[in-house]
Amino acid sequence: MSLVGALPFLKPRLSPSVSPGRQRRHTLPASEFRPLNTQDAISVFEIEKEAFISVSGDCPLHLDEVRHFLMLCPELSMGWFEEGRLVAFIIGSQWDQDRLTLDALTLHKPKGSTVHIHVLAVHRTFRQQGKGPILMWRYLQYLRCLPYVRRAVLMCEDFLVPFYQKSGFKVQGRCSITVASLTFTEMQYPVRGHALMRRNSEAIGFPQTNTQHHMHTLAVFTHAAKFGSFAKLLVQ
Ligand SMILES: CC(C)(COP(=O)(O)OP(=O)(O)OC[C@H]1O[C@@H](n2cnc3c(N)ncnc32)[C@H](O)[C@@H]1OP(=O)(O)O)[C@@H](O)C(=O)NCCC(=O)NCCS
Repeated sequence: MSLVGALPFLKPRLSPSVSPGRQRRHTLPASEFRPLNTQDAISVFEIEKEAFISVSGDCPLHLDEVRHFLMLCPELSMGWFEEGRLVAFIIGSQWDQDRLTLDALTLHKPKGSTVHIHVLAVHRTFRQQGKGPILMWRYLQYLRCLPYVRRAVLMCEDFLVPFYQKSGFKVQGRCSITVASLTFTEMQYPVRGHALMRRNSEAIGFPQTNTQHHMHTLAVFTHAAKFGSFAKLLVQ
């Protein structure tokens, strides 16, 4: 007798009442990039806890701040999900001054042309696989579709400067913000918009902060990338 026959509880379960079509509807996408919403806040914070709190006792955004920014400007966040599980994320908000000040840590300035990237983090088990740079690349490409964005800025500890330089960020100087004994370098990335996307969005007359519009432009880029016309779209 086979092992499976001897152990009937190991037999593959057949469920003829479930059609293949119905099964497919329950399949989560292998890989998905999408803006975050307040329901993702706990997953975001779980990653932050491991990445920052366990290391230094603090983190860039506390849970209430994560919820705050995901409520105010979800279109400036991006999550990478694998089979429904959050594996990496970026949270940003708008800022309206040349350099970051303490206010930038808690405020969203909807009239600003700068996106302040508060945090990029990759789940521990998915690090060292190039996911952080890939997510950052997609995020920066996405920002090019937003007509009001001129640059992205972030503050990081000195050891991460080379990491962000590889994504195209340039050092702006020492950041005036300090957290306990930690000091930071301020870095910026010029966001040169894609002329066609900007022209279309202005011609269509979407309000500049319309979330649906941002979802639409993200969807257009995802579609274009899928069908190989991404390079064409990027020609200014
Ligand atoms: C930093 C982070 C986003 C990188 O994402 P990733 O997907 O692991 O990136 P990669 O696969 O390209 O590889 C890791 C790279 O991160 C950088 N890096 C990560 N941790 C580092 C550290 N402690 N010291 C120096 N460089 C570090 C290095 O450039 C490294 O590249 P290398 O291995 O070629 O030297 C990820 O390590 C992370 O989430 N860390 C915890 C949260 C954090 O520090 N976020 C950034 C501040 S907001």
